[in-house]
Amino acid sequence: MLVTIFFVKDSLVKSNVSEAQNSLLTFNTIVANQVAPFITNIDNEYTFKYVDELIKQNSLEYGSRTLILNNSNEVLVDSYNVLKGTHLNNVEIENAVNGLKTSNIYIFQKDYLLYAAVPIVDRDNIVGTIFMSIDANNIFDKINKFMDKLFIIFSMAIPVSIFISIWFADIISKPIEKLTVSVKTITLGKYDTKVEIQGSDEIGELGKAFNLMTTKLYQVEERRKKFVSNVSHELRTPMTSMKIVSDTLLSSPNWDEAIYREFMLDINTEIDRLNKIIDSLLYLVRVEKDELELNYSITYVNYLLEWVIKTLNPIAHKKQIKLTLTVNNKIQIHLDQEKMQQCLLNIIGNAVKYTPEEGSVTVELEETYDWIIIKVTDTGIGIPEKDLPFIFDRFYRVDEARARKTGGTGLGLAIAQQIIQLHQGTISVKSELGNGTEVSITLPKK
Ligand SMILES: Nc1ncnc2c1ncn2[C@@H]1O[C@H](COP(=O)(O)OP(=O)(O)O)[C@@H](O)[C@H]1O
Ligand SMILES: [Mg+2]
Repeated sequence: MLVTIFFVKDSLVKSNVSEAQNSLLTFNTIVANQVAPFITNIDNEYTFKYVDELIKQNSLEYGSRTLILNNSNEVLVDSYNVLKGTHLNNVEIENAVNGLKTSNIYIFQKDYLLYAAVPIVDRDNIVGTIFMSIDANNIFDKINKFMDKLFIIFSMAIPVSIFISIWFADIISKPIEKLTVSVKTITLGKYDTKVEIQGSDEIGELGKAFNLMTTKLYQVEERRKKFVSNVSHELRTPMTSMKIVSDTLLSSPNWDEAIYREFMLDINTEIDRLNKIIDSLLYLVRVEKDELELNYSITYVNYLLEWVIKTLNPIAHKKQIKLTLTVNNKIQIHLDQEKMQQCLLNIIGNAVKYTPEEGSVTVELEETYDWIIIKVTDTGIGIPEKDLPFIFDRFYRVDEARARKTGGTGLGLAIAQQIIQLHQGTISVKSELGNGTEVSITLPKK
């Protein structure tokens, strides 16, 4: 605002003064032309009277003081009747003697005066100078009045803009303050913190993103807690049975060797079980960590399935389960062979494991334009509907007692799902209790 005031005033002064100067010079020139024919004859009493009268009338009308000087700067006519006969010199008069028209503004004790002088030319000869001065205070009065108004407007605008600024700052900073408080709450461990920020502007979006983040954080934290408690539980079960067995053995020195052997066998089995859990856990952790490091190679999925089936055949054979593979085409896609093998081993292994003797397990390989589909169908015990949503969870097993007998860890499907997701595929399960289960895997060809 100050800069505006400064520049407005400056340019107003410049333009108004130069306008006044131009108009004074024009008027001066007109009067000069009127008096020009009479100057050489000014000594004549009647001529002087005529010129004097003309000058006084014009000056009265214009509000100026007018002097006529001869070439030696002697005042011939003064509209104020004061300076007649004296010699006068200044820049403007000097310029006029040299044939130039000039006008300047002066300040005498706070009073502005405009000077202008033009040469009087009679038949191509400079015969004198006509000099005018005029009060220029009105120019500045006008400008000052205008500036005062501008100043009042600005003075009113300043509090208004301060008020608006504070208001806006408040609108912007309030939600940020809220966010800060929530971030601090989160650092204290309250992961389900939500902020209430309305609106669809950037800050509103930030609030939404923040809430989404805290939801995720909360879920991750819950999963972590559950995972830790599951791991502890899973590790403790074999430990407890080993403890019972060894306590029993230690309680008496007189056990038969046969009983020793039997109990040691139990301990050995539990150790194997522990090892299996730890191996699976480590594998799961590795698969989750490997997220961006899939070791892709172009692979025939049909051969991969043949290998898995060959590996599982002895177990299937022992249970007299018919394990068949149906492949229409050889299909090649990019995948991480080692991980996909593990994944298929877990899923087809489950089918064999959870199918009673003399049942059958069928593996089919199909393809669409974009996808390949692997379907594993068994005639096994099936999964109750209420358990279906959880079977991919770590350590989840449908029937704890039964599962323990079959020797699982509850990690097989979690690992399989992780691997499929890393390959941008999907896995789904349909099952009917007592009738069998169908697991479908889809993998993108590209
Ligand atoms: N083909 C299947 N038929 C019946 N139940 C199954 C099948 N596959 C998985 N399940 C159930 O899902 C649970 C989780 O499977 P998984 O993660 O492989 O663990 P596990 O080590 O017990 O096999 C199993 O304990 C079992 O109850
Ligand atoms: Mg399994």
